[in-house]
Amino acid sequence: MRPLPSESRKNRGISLGLLALCLTAACCLQSQGVSLYIPQSAINATVEEDILLSVDYSCHGIPTIEWKYTSNWGAQKIVEWKPGTQANISQSHKDRLCTFDNGSIQLFGVGVRDSGYYIITVTERLGSSQFGTIVLHVSEILYEDLHFVAVFLALLAAVAALLISLMWVCNKCAYKFQRKRRHKLKESTTEEIELQDVEC
Ligand SMILES: *[C@@H]1O[C@H](CO)[C@@H](O)[C@H](O)[C@H]1NC(C)=O
Ligand SMILES: *[C@@H]1O[C@H](CO)[C@@H](O)[C@H](O)[C@H]1NC(C)=O
Ligand SMILES: *[C@@H]1O[C@H](CO)[C@@H](O)[C@H](O)[C@H]1NC(C)=O
Repeated sequence: MRPLPSESRKNRGISLGLLALCLTAACCLQSQGVSLYIPQSAINATVEEDILLSVDYSCHGIPTIEWKYTSNWGAQKIVEWKPGTQANISQSHKDRLCTFDNGSIQLFGVGVRDSGYYIITVTERLGSSQFGTIVLHVSEILYEDLHFVAVFLALLAAVAALLISLMWVCNKCAYKFQRKRRHKLKESTTEEIELQDVEC
């Protein structure tokens, strides 16, 4: 049995209404949601470097930004702040962390123990939030550095060898020169002696 025209129109009306509702919901979600942008989610560093954990976010109003640090040794909150206000930095990271208004943090003079996962959570005043993770790997010394040191040492050794051989050559020259002079001196004295002998 075919539906009556009026019924079909009603159905269409309902589906249109649903569609509109969905669209509004999507718009609301989008306008309320926080979006977080992390350009580099894995960072390799060497000890004593200053590292920027760079992020950027967009949301409505002023959010609360929180960074947590997780590693084999456990998890802890390291900093929390609202952009534009003083940051609340944990005791373990006092004096070696600074915050930026775009949510980024900078760690000064990192050590091997700073390796691990850094989790940022951006929470809007209305409650929606977004989190992201940056993996930091801090190594003692890079292979490239060792390579550089090796090349530098080789260069130093080469220069030393050159200097030593130069000194040796100089020494030899001086010795020869001295011997020649002494020889000449001796010749002249013998000549004098001979002359004296003749006179006598
Ligand atoms: C970091 O080092 C690991 C190896 O230890 C390597 O696989 C990775 O590609 C490096 N990442 C960057 C961003 O240099
Ligand atoms: C966040 O701000 C810092 C400091 O102004 C900047 O160096 C960094 O590039 C910014 N990050 C992004 C993803 O824009
Ligand atoms: C800073 O954080 C600590 C621990 O999370 C908390 O006890 C303290 O009340 C906070 N201080 C401020 C000023 O928010």
